[in-house]
Amino acid sequence: MTQRGTLGVAVIGTGRMGADHVRRIDEVISGARVAAVVDVDAERVKAVADGVDGCTPYTDPAAAMAAPDVDAVLIASPGPAHEAALLTAFAHDLPVLCEKPLTPDPASALRVLEAEQKRGHRLVQVGFMRRYDAEYVRLKALLDSGELGRPLMLHNRHRNASTPPGFTNAMIINDSVVHEMDVTRWLLDQEITAVTVMRPARASANAPEGLHDPQFVVFETDGGALVDVEINVNCRFGYQVQAEAVCENGTARIGDAHGLLVNTAGRWGGSVAPGFVERFEEAYDRQVQAWVDATRRGEVTGPSCWDGYAAAAVCEAGVRAQTEGRRVEVDLVERPALYR
Ligand SMILES: NC(=O)c1ccc[n+]([C@@H]2O[C@H](COP(=O)([O-])OP(=O)(O)OC[C@H]3O[C@@H](n4cnc5c(N)ncnc54)[C@H](O)[C@@H]3O)[C@@H](O)[C@H]2O)c1
Repeated sequence: MTQRGTLGVAVIGTGRMGADHVRRIDEVISGARVAAVVDVDAERVKAVADGVDGCTPYTDPAAAMAAPDVDAVLIASPGPAHEAALLTAFAHDLPVLCEKPLTPDPASALRVLEAEQKRGHRLVQVGFMRRYDAEYVRLKALLDSGELGRPLMLHNRHRNASTPPGFTNAMIINDSVVHEMDVTRWLLDQEITAVTVMRPARASANAPEGLHDPQFVVFETDGGALVDVEINVNCRFGYQVQAEAVCENGTARIGDAHGLLVNTAGRWGGSVAPGFVERFEEAYDRQVQAWVDATRRGEVTGPSCWDGYAAAAVCEAGVRAQTEGRRVEVDLVERPALYR
C-alpha cells in the first residue's frame, strides 16, 4: 500500500457510477486514494484523472492493475466487461469492489466463482449497496433478533420516475428487481427458489412503447416465505424504495422517507428523492468505506461472488418467467465451501 497504509484504488469505468465513486474516494471517505482511472473512452478518463491529484489515466484495465501504486480495484464498467476485469484482478491477487451485476448471466458468474476459489480466498465484494442503507440495516437487525417471530412475507415497492431510452422488459428484472432479489436473500437469509412475473392488462400510459410497466414479481424462498415486488419504473413522481416484512408477531416497514415534514397552505408532506443516487447516497458511501476498511485490515466482507451468482440465477429465472408467462424455478449449483 502507498502513503502509509492509504489504499491505492484503480477505478475501472468512469461513467455515471464510476465518476461518482472517484468523487467519493477522493472527497468523502478515508483510508484510500484514487491512484488510477480506466475507461475505453480516452477523453473521459483523462478529464476524470485531471480532477484528482496523483491519479493516472489508462484505457487498458490490465495496465492499470499492473501499476505498482494500485492495491485494489473498483469495477464500474458495464456488466459484460466485469468478467475480464475480475479475472485480471485475480491474476494480480487484488481485492475488488465490483458494481452489480457480478456478471450478466449465471454461466459467466460461475466461471468467476471458480476462478476465485482457485485463489483459495475471497477477493470480491459485490456492490449490492442496499445492505449498507441505514434503514435496511435496522430492518435486518430486527428480523435477526427474532423479536417479531419468523418472517412470512416481504412486500417491496421499487418506483422510478422514468426509464432511459432503450430500457427493456428484461432490464426491469436484471437492472431494477435484482436489488430486491439481493435484499430478499440477505434479509431472510434464504435462497429464492422460484419466480413468477405478472402485469396489469394495460401498461401505464407513461410507459414507453414496448415496456410493460408496472410489473408484479413474486419470489418463493427455500424457507417458505412469499415475497412480492411492485416494480414501477415510470411513475413520474420520483424514486421510492419501500419494504415491509410481515412476521408472526408483527410487521416492520422501511422507506417512508420521514425526513422533513412541512405543514403549509392547507397541506402537509415531505419530498420524494429524484433518483437512486440521492436515495442511496449514504449507502454508497458506507459501502465503499466498509470495503476500504476491510481491505486495509486484509479482510473481504459484504456481498460475495456467491451472492452475485445467486442474483444472476434468479434474474435468469425472472426473465424466463416474464417472457414465458409462467412460474419458473431457480437453478442453483451447490454452494461452495468458500462461501458458506
Ligand atoms: N449499485 C447501483 O445502484 C448501480 C446503479 C447504476 C449502475 N450500476 C452498475 O454500475 C456499472 C456502471 O454503470 P453506469 O451507469 O455507471 O454506466 P455508464 O455507461 O454511465 O458508464 C460505464 C463506463 O464504462 C466505460 N467502459 C465500457 N467498457 C469498458 C471497459 N471494458 N473497460 C473500462 N471501461 C469501460 C464506458 O466508456 C463508460 O464510461 C454497471 O455494472 C451497472 O449495472 C449500479
